[in-house]
Amino acid sequence: MKISGDEYVVRPGIPDDIAVLAAMNEGLHPYPGVGPWTRDLFERHPFVDFRDFVVAESRTERRIAASLVAINQQWTLGGTSVPAVQIELVGSDPRDRGHNLTGRMLDAVHQRCRTMGPALQLISGIPYFYRRFGYEYAVRPGDSIDVAAAVLQDHHCHSELDFFVRPAVSADAPALAGLDRSAVPADVLRCHRDETSWVYELSGRRKDSLPSVEVAVITDRLGAIAGYVVNSPRIGSDGALKVFAAECVNDDVWAGARAVMLRYLADAGAAAARRTGSQFTALRMLMPDGHQLMGMLPPVAVHRAEPWYARSGDLGALLKWCLPALAARWREHGWPRSVLVLDTYHEVIRLHFAAGRLHDIDVVARDALRSAADVVVPPGALLQLILGYATPSELLQIWPDMSVPEPTTLDFLAIGFPRLSASVWSVI
Ligand SMILES: CC(C)(COP(=O)(O)OP(=O)(O)OC[C@H]1O[C@@H](n2cnc3c(N)ncnc32)[C@H](O)[C@@H]1OP(=O)(O)O)[C@@H](O)C(=O)NCCC(=O)NCCS
Repeated sequence: MKISGDEYVVRPGIPDDIAVLAAMNEGLHPYPGVGPWTRDLFERHPFVDFRDFVVAESRTERRIAASLVAINQQWTLGGTSVPAVQIELVGSDPRDRGHNLTGRMLDAVHQRCRTMGPALQLISGIPYFYRRFGYEYAVRPGDSIDVAAAVLQDHHCHSELDFFVRPAVSADAPALAGLDRSAVPADVLRCHRDETSWVYELSGRRKDSLPSVEVAVITDRLGAIAGYVVNSPRIGSDGALKVFAAECVNDDVWAGARAVMLRYLADAGAAAARRTGSQFTALRMLMPDGHQLMGMLPPVAVHRAEPWYARSGDLGALLKWCLPALAARWREHGWPRSVLVLDTYHEVIRLHFAAGRLHDIDVVARDALRSAADVVVPPGALLQLILGYATPSELLQIWPDMSVPEPTTLDFLAIGFPRLSASVWSVI
């Protein structure tokens, strides 16, 4: 029986949904640990609870037909923190397909974001599908790079051991959060992990939950934490072990700790392979471009990263969140006029400068200032510009309806909006 669109009600999750959603998600998403992950999101996640699920229910059968979850996060853009939601576990019961339930559930998320603040919505997955709902590819993770297991064996033979490695424990959370604050390069787009997030990562999740990871800390001779490395506890069917993140407090530590990390990861890969009776073939580095852990290692394969979709219902607000980062990038490069005007075809966003320095951003009706625009930029291109998906010059090539009449304006934009490589290891 086909049910008409009106016969579905879209509502926030309730505590009683947990068992049905855990089972349903396990059936719809073919990865190990989806059921425990769903339960963690209901019960243990520090920034998510049942209300962050959106459920479509058939009125007549009182049965859950579809659901998704909007995971509350903070993302850092050039050192500025932006509230975001990452949408995960999107699924509909095969009996209920054909009713645009994903679109209706996403409408509910977007409505909530409008009233509650998250300026950015992020999602990864099915090619093209989320464009239907106003999303644009705008987050570019680094390509994932495979390093052969055999190369690692050679590599660590020559290492010096000034640093040590041990599994991380909850008590390490403050040091790890501090390390993230001080050491992560500003030109990386990433999900912010505070102390609470680290505690959750280290001891909060169910062990068999899909996003659970192994975290090891690198310590110096005095036992102080000088770095960390994060990998999947499982090996893929091709024998590759995924590495999600690695950081060190500074370049000197990287020089000594890289070999220690690689040896640890080689051992982790071999151990994960033994557990499944398979063979460890490679480390798969899922990290931003140019990551320090790669050093001079020769890649055996490079897999083009799948970009993430993003959306913002309020680009002016998103840009305003980025004001400190923009002001910092333009510190040495004053804008010669008091306003830089961006026309998005929907509204006009004004960047206000005093003595060349950016100090405010506001939005006005389009009619007022359209003719004075320094930059004409469709919303999708502006989102890509803000999230560093491509440089302004590259975007001009891609978007025929974008224009920057003055070459000096393009130079100025290039400084404010550099290309950013993203880390895909978010708090989910
Ligand atoms: C993806 C999914 C949630 C869509 O379900 P839905 O919201 O009920 O979608 P509908 O059946 O109403 O389809 C809406 C439109 O999207 C299209 N569509 C649906 N699934 C699609 C897919 N996997 N790829 C591309 N297009 C898809 C449909 O063809 C339809 O287009 P039309 O309106 O032009 O006919 C559902 O197929 C599903 O649960 N899949 C398994 C789990 C999954 O892959 N989740 C997404 C993880 S990112």
